[in-house]
Amino acid sequence: MNEETAIGSALQETLAAHFKWFHSHPELGHHERETTARIRNILMDAGVKILDTGLKTGLVARVGGGEMVVALRCDIDALPIAEATGLDYASKNGCMHACGHDFHLTSMLGAAMLLKQRESRLMGAVKLIFQPAEETVNGAISVLASGVLDDVAEIYGLHTAPDMPVSMIGVSPGAVYAAVGSFTIRIHGKGGHAAHPHECRDPIVALSQIIGAAQTIVSRQTSPFDSAVLSFTHVESGNTWNIIPEEAFAEGTIRAFGTDRFNAIMERLARVCKGVEETSGIQIDFQCELNAPAVNNDAELVEFVKRTAQELGFKTVPSSQTMGGEDFAFYLERIRGVFWNIGVASPEPAHNPRFVANPAALDTASALLASIAEKSLKRLRSIE
Ligand code: NI
Repeated sequence: MNEETAIGSALQETLAAHFKWFHSHPELGHHERETTARIRNILMDAGVKILDTGLKTGLVARVGGGEMVVALRCDIDALPIAEATGLDYASKNGCMHACGHDFHLTSMLGAAMLLKQRESRLMGAVKLIFQPAEETVNGAISVLASGVLDDVAEIYGLHTAPDMPVSMIGVSPGAVYAAVGSFTIRIHGKGGHAAHPHECRDPIVALSQIIGAAQTIVSRQTSPFDSAVLSFTHVESGNTWNIIPEEAFAEGTIRAFGTDRFNAIMERLARVCKGVEETSGIQIDFQCELNAPAVNNDAELVEFVKRTAQELGFKTVPSSQTMGGEDFAFYLERIRGVFWNIGVASPEPAHNPRFVANPAALDTASALLASIAEKSLKRLRSIE
C-alpha cells in the first residue's frame, strides 16, 4: 500500500464512521440541530473555519482565503419515512436519510479535510455549504438570503444516483432537474339535496370537467419534444350519497424543464379553470406557484467537472434528466455551476424506505469535490 492509498483508506474509515452516525440520526428540514452541531464539531476539530451566517440550522465553512471564491454545496436534511433497510445503523426515530443527504454531507466533510491539508496551495477560498431543508425546497433561499455567497464565482454540488454503480459520475449540460410547482383549485358551489341538482351548483361536476380538460394540456397543447408533467394528486369533496356538497378541492403538481414552459402550462390550467367557471357559473379559485426553477448546468463547467472526474479515475456518463426538483436551482440562477450525480448502487430508489446509499465511495466523492474546488480556483485565477 503506498502512502496515498494509506491516507485514502484512513479517510474512508473516518468518513464511514461519520456516515453511520448521520444515517442513524436523521432530522427533518429546519430541525437539523444535532446534525448541524455534529458537523460543526467535526469541522472545528479539523481546524476549518465556520462562517457567521445567522442560519438557524446548517452552516457555511471556509477553507483558504483571498478574493477568488468558489463554493461546494451539500444538503443535510432527511425525510419523514420510517426506515425499513434492516441496516445495523438504521434510524429508529421515524425519519430517514432516504435521499442520501447523509452521503452528501459526509463526503463534504471529507472534502473539507482534504482542502484543509492543501490550504497553503489553494489559489483562493472555498466556501462549503451544509444546506438545511432541501426537501422542503427553501433551504437554498435562506443560504442565499444570508449574503454569504455574494462573492462566489462558481458553485458545485452533488447528488447520489441510486441506480448507478458505486463511484460512477453522471453529469450533463443544461436542465437536468425540472422546474417544479404546485397548484390548488378550490370550487365554491352551492350544496343541496342530491334529488334536486337543478337547485344546486355542483362543485364535483365542475372539478371533474377541470381534471378531464387538464389531461389535454400536456398531451395536446405541449410539444412532444418538451417534456412536462401535470398531475392531480389530491381531490376532496362531499361526505355522503344524497347530498351535493358546497365545495370541492384539488391539488397537484406541474413540472417542466424551464420556467417558461412551466408558466405556459400553468397559464393553460388557469384558462381551463376560468372556462369551467364561466360555463358552470361556479366560483373557482386557482392558485399555482413555482417552488423551484430547473437546475441548469453550465455547459463549459460540465466539461471541466467531467475532465476532473476522469483525471481522478472516475467513469463518467451523461446524467439522466429527472422531473424531480432540487433547490440547487436557486444557486444556479445567480452563480455559474454544475450539479452532478454519483452512483451509490441502492437496491431501491430514493425516498423509498429501503433506499441504501453504499458508503464505499465516500472518500473518492470527497476527493472529487476537493479537486473540483481546487482546480476551479486555479482556472479562475489563470483567466483573471
Ligand atoms: Ni435529495
